[in-house]
Amino acid sequence: MTSGLRKGLTSYGDAGFSLFLRKAFIKAAGYSDDALDRPIVAITDTASDFNPCHGNAPQLIEAVRRGVMLAGGLPMSFPTISIHESFAHPTSMYLRNLMAMDTEEMIRAQPMDAVVLIGGCDKTLPAQIMGAASAGIPAVVVPVGPMVVGHHRGEVLGACTDCRRLWGQHRAGKIDEAEIEVISGRLAPSVGTCMVMGTASTMACMIEAMGMSLPYSAAIPAPHAERLRIGEASGKAAVAMAQQHAPKPAEILTPRAFRNAMVVLQAIGGSTNGLVHLAAIAGRTGHKIDLEEFDRIGREVPVLIDLKPSGDHYMEHFHHAGGMPRLLAELEPFLDMDAPTVTGGTLRDYAAMAEDVPGQTVIRPRTAPLKQTGGMAVLHGNLAPGGAVIKHAAATPALLQHTGRAVVFESVEDLTNRIDDPALEVSAEDVLVLRNAGPKGAPGMPEAGYLPIPRKLAQQGVKDMVRISDARMSGTAFGTIVLHITPESAVGGPLALVRTGDQIRLDVAARRIELLVDAAELERRAAEPRPTRAAPRRGYAKLFHETVTQADQGCDFDFLIGTDEEEEGEERTTR
Ligand code: FES
Repeated sequence: MTSGLRKGLTSYGDAGFSLFLRKAFIKAAGYSDDALDRPIVAITDTASDFNPCHGNAPQLIEAVRRGVMLAGGLPMSFPTISIHESFAHPTSMYLRNLMAMDTEEMIRAQPMDAVVLIGGCDKTLPAQIMGAASAGIPAVVVPVGPMVVGHHRGEVLGACTDCRRLWGQHRAGKIDEAEIEVISGRLAPSVGTCMVMGTASTMACMIEAMGMSLPYSAAIPAPHAERLRIGEASGKAAVAMAQQHAPKPAEILTPRAFRNAMVVLQAIGGSTNGLVHLAAIAGRTGHKIDLEEFDRIGREVPVLIDLKPSGDHYMEHFHHAGGMPRLLAELEPFLDMDAPTVTGGTLRDYAAMAEDVPGQTVIRPRTAPLKQTGGMAVLHGNLAPGGAVIKHAAATPALLQHTGRAVVFESVEDLTNRIDDPALEVSAEDVLVLRNAGPKGAPGMPEAGYLPIPRKLAQQGVKDMVRISDARMSGTAFGTIVLHITPESAVGGPLALVRTGDQIRLDVAARRIELLVDAAELERRAAEPRPTRAAPRRGYAKLFHETVTQADQGCDFDFLIGTDEEEEGEERTTR
């Protein structure tokens, strides 16, 4: 097996010349032969002025470099796309697969024996793992870490659960323009990812539970010195992996790891986006996430973490309470503790590091959970034949069994234009329906599933309503919200047939979401011509439109699913 600088030579028809030329150019940067003979550990550089969440990436890269050199390797960082949630148009999810392709192809194209993936803002870690899994070289993840909390008028604040809560108060007229401006400077007081259990934190926790990062990697705050020490330790671990050419991502990302991730996703009251990303990562290693199994896990596994949006605390409190090792120790009866990790050991080693923190209430024992069952449920019914998801841990209990009149919005634009119209006929008992907001329809399945409460109802004090869509929702959001309705309306899913005035029944206990319209009428509606939008004719938009899959397959591109070995008809082995 070739390694180091000899890997993946540029094609000139003469391998010796290719290596000679490569060395000649890299020596221009001042490298010695000694350095160039070392195992190469590459480090992804996702720093960007447009991505404040990754503001500590330069220091983390330095820390990883130090670890690599201490262990005798040669660190080489390289840039990839970086995606920030609020700086990505039309939505970050639209670009996740592009980042995954960029990461995969640059790992393949450049000579490296292992790669350290530094990322964190919502779509970045899934994209990086998808890419690394497909590229197939040893990889270790270093999340940038969560922000520390903010403070305003004696209240602790966190992005972005409190962004939504306080914006809701502003919409209801309770917070004026001047104060909301002040708040915007206090919600995100440091670099790092959102410090509630949003998508970034959820992904970091699941990745640690899958053994793709070192213990404690998920929750150490971004500005802390410990975060840099995790970077250094990850650099050292990557050199060992580079020397052994193992374990490769496919050896870690096995069905047992995906099941462990599902257990953790339920126990942390994690983001619904986590399920979509997990399906995409599983697809890259030739596996599938079974939504029914996820739902079964949710009936057994309690929510043990008291973090917003399901609870009260923030990621730094989770870290101070013992972080993921403590949680893994609590969840031991539900987990496969023999699942391998990037350290060469197993998940049992992570749990064995669990610290007992006297008096902490953030990580609950199994005997006193925050909620008796997991954070999410999978729904089916005539509205969602391919499934839908609800984060019932962050919903209003009284609305989990509810029948109401549909108020339909045709698209995100229609929603924006009409939701605050004083003439909109809507009451608190109605069910708000958004369609054409799925993977193809929007495109990119935006986080529009958190439909705002119509202003006139918000002003009357209405805080939650049943809302359903084929969109996603930010992991930091809360409410009685049914998401990821599959198939989406833009590809002919039944959501397209709902009309304002229809009755919709949500029954979370029975795991059902039903449109109470008889089958003959639905058939008649399905036969009617529907307006269609012109398909994009060029570029990434065309590729996206033609190849993006539905939520249950992770919204990956269909041609990226599976492994090279499967393509070649070889049997893939996992350990
Ligand atoms: Fe980057 Fe929330 S905006 S993690």
